[in-house]
Amino acid sequence: MNAFWSGYIALLTLGTIVALFWLIFATRKGESPGTTDKTMGHSFDGIEEYDNPLPKWWFMLFIGTLVFGIVYLVLYPGLGNWKGMMPGYEDGWTQDKQWQREVDQADEKFGPIFAKYSAMSVAEVAQDDRALKIGGRLFANYCSVCHGSDAKGANGFPNLADSEWRWGGDAETIKASILHGRVASMPAWGQVIGEEGVKNVAAYVRSELAGLTLPEGTVADTAAGGQVYAQTCSVCHGANGEGMAAMGAPKLTSSAGWIYGSTLPQLQQTIRHGRNGQMPAQEQYLGNDKVHLLAAYVYSLSQQPERLAKQ
Ligand code: HEC
Ligand code: HEC
Repeated sequence: MNAFWSGYIALLTLGTIVALFWLIFATRKGESPGTTDKTMGHSFDGIEEYDNPLPKWWFMLFIGTLVFGIVYLVLYPGLGNWKGMMPGYEDGWTQDKQWQREVDQADEKFGPIFAKYSAMSVAEVAQDDRALKIGGRLFANYCSVCHGSDAKGANGFPNLADSEWRWGGDAETIKASILHGRVASMPAWGQVIGEEGVKNVAAYVRSELAGLTLPEGTVADTAAGGQVYAQTCSVCHGANGEGMAAMGAPKLTSSAGWIYGSTLPQLQQTIRHGRNGQMPAQEQYLGNDKVHLLAAYVYSLSQQPERLAKQ
């Protein structure tokens, strides 16, 4: 902001405050002892208004808000380029600085606790009630938007409270998923195998691999679908649909861990256009110590399902 606009805002603000002071004193009627019988001279349905001065406490309230405004403007940056004189903020208070300060204070307070847990293995931490409580709170803050507050996932987001894993469910792999994130890439096959191929292989996956029934009247050649599967899909999903954790290719022998749906149209959609699920990396953002606790919490959910019920 240049000096002109800064001065303009400051002048306007201070001028208004001065004008308000003038207004409240100029219109003050003085203090009458007790009440008067004089009325304002108007009547609404027989209800009249006495011409009493503002009660003192009310008047003081007005003064109080004006004084508050002035104190606020001295402390905080509200007048043009004025940075404020908030104690403890050399170069003026800002939201960012206050936030950073609170983060620093929290780090100082909780750092040693986190560090203690970081020295233990994830599986060990998963046995510690206090650590899991902290982990649960971190999860609610940072993970529930996508994975749900009960960690049971949603369409497109995996359930973390069951025993189905796309990338692996041992303690260290879970930690790696959170720390470095995951980028899954299921290619789009529509152009390659054609519409008929998509329908056949979708029917094959649903009925032969996952063991689900096909809706009545389904027109698909599952045997041909099986051939497409062997040629195109087995590289990633395994010859028998057992999946491949290294690529995050889910097993297709059961629909329990699927995140994009198991109806034929949903399967066809997945196969036709591909899918690119992304788990955002948390290392830069949360740091190793918090991720360690989160990993322990997530690991504990699949190890001790009764814990979830307790919460
Ligand atoms: C290059 C490796 C690769 C190939 C080849 C591949 N897939 Fe996939 N597939 C994946 C990955 C990785 C995912 C997970 C995508 C995600 O999580 O977003 C996936 C996801 C899926 C899903 C969704 C499961 C869910 O969670 O809902 C289905 C169904 C599927 N693939 C079927 C097939 C079929 C059928 C073929 C053959 C036409 C095939 N895939 C070929 C890697 C592959
Ligand atoms: C922006 C949404 C989003 C947020 C936030 C998010 N995740 Fe994820 N997460 C995903 C998606 C999508 C996947 C599945 C990736 C794939 O398709 O393979 C995933 C996968 C995972 C996996 C691997 C699951 C498996 O089956 O192998 C773990 C573990 C995980 N997330 C934990 C967490 C934790 C802990 C947090 C909180 C720090 C978190 N996620 C925050 C979207 C998110």
